[in-house]
Amino acid sequence: MEFSINKGNPAKQRCASVVVGVFETRILSEAAKTLDKSANGYISNILNNGDMEGKPGSTLLLHNVPNTICNRVLLVGLGEKSVFRDREFRSAIRAAFNKLHETGASDASLFLIDVPVKNRKIAWKISHTVIVAMESIYRSDQLKSKRNNDKQQLQKVILSTTGKVDSITGKEALQWGLATAHGMSLTKDLGNLPPNICTPTYLAKLAVKMAKNYKLKATILEQKDMEKLGMGSLLSVARGSSQPAKLITLEYWGQNKKEKPFVLVGKGVTFDTGGISLKPAADMDEMKYDMCGAASVFGTIAAITQMRLPINVVGIIPATENMPGGKATKPGDIVTSMSGQTIEILNTDAEGRLILCDALTYAERYKPEVVIDIATLTGACVIALGNVASGLLSNNNKLATELLIASEQAADHAWHLPLWKEYDEQLRSNFADMANIGGRAAGTITASCFLSRFTKKYCWAHLDIAGTAWESGKKKGATGRPVPLLTQFLTTHATKKSSGKKS
Ligand code: BES
Ligand code: MN
Ligand code: ZN
Repeated sequence: MEFSINKGNPAKQRCASVVVGVFETRILSEAAKTLDKSANGYISNILNNGDMEGKPGSTLLLHNVPNTICNRVLLVGLGEKSVFRDREFRSAIRAAFNKLHETGASDASLFLIDVPVKNRKIAWKISHTVIVAMESIYRSDQLKSKRNNDKQQLQKVILSTTGKVDSITGKEALQWGLATAHGMSLTKDLGNLPPNICTPTYLAKLAVKMAKNYKLKATILEQKDMEKLGMGSLLSVARGSSQPAKLITLEYWGQNKKEKPFVLVGKGVTFDTGGISLKPAADMDEMKYDMCGAASVFGTIAAITQMRLPINVVGIIPATENMPGGKATKPGDIVTSMSGQTIEILNTDAEGRLILCDALTYAERYKPEVVIDIATLTGACVIALGNVASGLLSNNNKLATELLIASEQAADHAWHLPLWKEYDEQLRSNFADMANIGGRAAGTITASCFLSRFTKKYCWAHLDIAGTAWESGKKKGATGRPVPLLTQFLTTHATKKSSGKKS
């Protein structure tokens, strides 16, 4: 799908479909008004007949609209004008593209970026149109023997305005949207891959390939290297598996190397059976998504590479399977982490924190500006926040606020949870420095408390994406989240820096 921006009159678009918005109740958007005028009230007549109210998500396809030179006009319901915000804008775009795909149109001219969205400039609307459009064509069918041959029909999309868009602003917004969409698509592809293909070795090879193609730096630490570093916690998770664990780093230096890097640490459990604390069988296949944190690090680095962001970013991915086996870690085992702190493993299914803690200690060597870890860490987060928001915990309130702002801007929701000392006490162990679980209460918070014991030397935030990284049920598939949030956060920092305002 190709995108361009153009100023024009909706009645004069020579293409398969012209798309205009209609608010509830039957209030025409500016572009719809222009079209209606040329068509001598044809559209308002139809609306007055009761064929469309403008309800959010509704669409109405019109043929032979008088005095137009397009094949069809697609009316898209925008809902109530007074509450037309980010969510409503994106839903309207989604509805428009779903309908366009149904019609099989090869090109379309969308007059939707003119519609006012509270507190959003045109650049935001352009970027998000691109992201939502790219999402609408995403398929994961590489492994079907007969690929669904509904070849992509919508090839050319013109984001049209009746006003003017500054060409640099427009171009940058398009590029931002395309890069983010590209990153999300990579993240989805990796998440959706089956666990027999997407192994730690597969992820390591991908990092090496990306480094080659995009001039990044990849380093793969093997198990013996990790032993030397004393990563006893990470390695304890890999013990039950016949797939060797890898510690992958992927570095993007978009700026002077003297500038401290932003470090992203992604949980890469390529399959989580629970280990000896085995999970129940129902839906266990979904634990192939337990590497979505890692996938989002790959996706974010792909996105910022594509847009050549002037910032330094290091991705660190601890990758392993969590399997039961003769050599597997047992409940009650005590291991020593790279930090020197000892951990009593009371539940081998709380493995994410065990691999992350060593990766977080390893992150110290980069003298990071900030460290953000991304992990499908706790089922408790799904109970607390559902599939809507990622859990956000941090040892620094300024960083947490910046991430919340980025999440809003990216329409990739996150919610701040507390990291108070009272919760940390739940990790007490009689035999080691800490236990790896803190009981049923506040599971997302105690998991973060565990991580926070390894992040004292820098500014750190944790994103629990257990509820947001993939969808279950009929629409089972990875979502590409939180690539938009992370990309937005890094973009904001890069822009701040390049304009000389130190954050
Ligand atoms: N990968 C899971 C978390 C998870 C579970 C994500 C379900 C999404 C859906 C993680 O490794 C895990 O098993 N966590 C345990 C921790 C518990 C043993 C303290 C959990 O949440 O049950
Ligand atoms: Mn687990
Ligand atoms: Zn897990």
